[in-house]
Amino acid sequence: MLAPFLLCRPPKLIYKSKRGYQIYFFSITFCETPKIRCVILNPVVKLVMKKIKKILMLISTCALLACNKDSDVVEIRMGHNMTEQMTVHKAMVYMQNRLDKLSDGKIKLKIYPNSQLGNSNETLTMVQQDIIQMTSISAANLENFAPEMSLFSYPYIFEDSAHYWGFLDGEFGKKILQSASHQNMTGLIFFDAGSRSFYLKQNSVESPADIAGRKIRVMGSYTAKKMIELLGGSPQSIPFGELYSALQQGVVDGAENNPASFYETRHYEVCKYFSLDEHTRVPDLLVVNSKFWATLSKENREIIQQAASEAGLFQRELWAENDKSYMKKLRELGVIITYPDKDAFFQAVKPMLDNVSNDSVNFYLKKIEEIRYLEK
Ligand code: GCU
Repeated sequence: MLAPFLLCRPPKLIYKSKRGYQIYFFSITFCETPKIRCVILNPVVKLVMKKIKKILMLISTCALLACNKDSDVVEIRMGHNMTEQMTVHKAMVYMQNRLDKLSDGKIKLKIYPNSQLGNSNETLTMVQQDIIQMTSISAANLENFAPEMSLFSYPYIFEDSAHYWGFLDGEFGKKILQSASHQNMTGLIFFDAGSRSFYLKQNSVESPADIAGRKIRVMGSYTAKKMIELLGGSPQSIPFGELYSALQQGVVDGAENNPASFYETRHYEVCKYFSLDEHTRVPDLLVVNSKFWATLSKENREIIQQAASEAGLFQRELWAENDKSYMKKLRELGVIITYPDKDAFFQAVKPMLDNVSNDSVNFYLKKIEEIRYLEK
């Protein structure tokens, strides 16, 4: 666009005189009336300058008009690491359309999927620095910024999907969304990311003994690493987008994720065993830069929150619909799906649940336990 171009780069004229090259800078200010100030050092170029001044005046007026036209348009850039087939991406497209409608085209959402802008940690840094304003990210990746986020990487804390949403939709879920705000990252909604299970290249996982000695990829979460260690495995933190080749090259023997991610990333081409031990339910969050959020008008914040909440519900429904079809597709592709006895896994990882050192995590774990059977 013209306006930012003019604002970022002051126009200059390079003039060759007898004394060598002379550079003339123009400072242009876009306010109510465009102002152009030129420093004319040499009378010889006065005529030329006059003409240039006229042209610049014209350009800046056009730019001003463009600014006025767009001045109340809010542009939000968001990046994520999911493919375009995945429910989070579809929900973002849904949100984009809702924003357009609710704001009369005044709030524009630009989506960069497929780790185009970098891996989870890189996009998170971009959000923190306001290079982009939003990302969707696993709570596990936020653990280093807010200990509360580690909560979800504790195994077997949720009975089922109703228990999980009962907690996330309640007052504590709302508090957890805010827990990384002091780090310039405010959560707007949770996305469903199902339950995570193991998949290996060589064998199925029927008991913790099948994890023992294996290199298992985890997200960037200390808690997830701890869980793999208790199962006897060797955890390796690798970005999601790099996992396919890490599996292929034998950097790791396996990983853990939900069926949707396993299918959409084609990890089944390398790992033929998917064992549904369902150890954790780690939600994704839609995160916005807190300072950017604070600069928005109350009305715009409400519109964005509404569009995000609607997109969250849309994603949740889509997730529930798709979940079963993924299992079917995986079977058809020759993946061996097994249902191990979860109790052996629970017993192996129980020490981490018995020794939670962080007070807020402990508090939330108790609350989760309290509502375990209420949601039925
Ligand atoms: C899931 C989750 C993502 C996460 C990924 C991972 O797909 O929804 O947010 O990045 O797992 O294992 O890295």
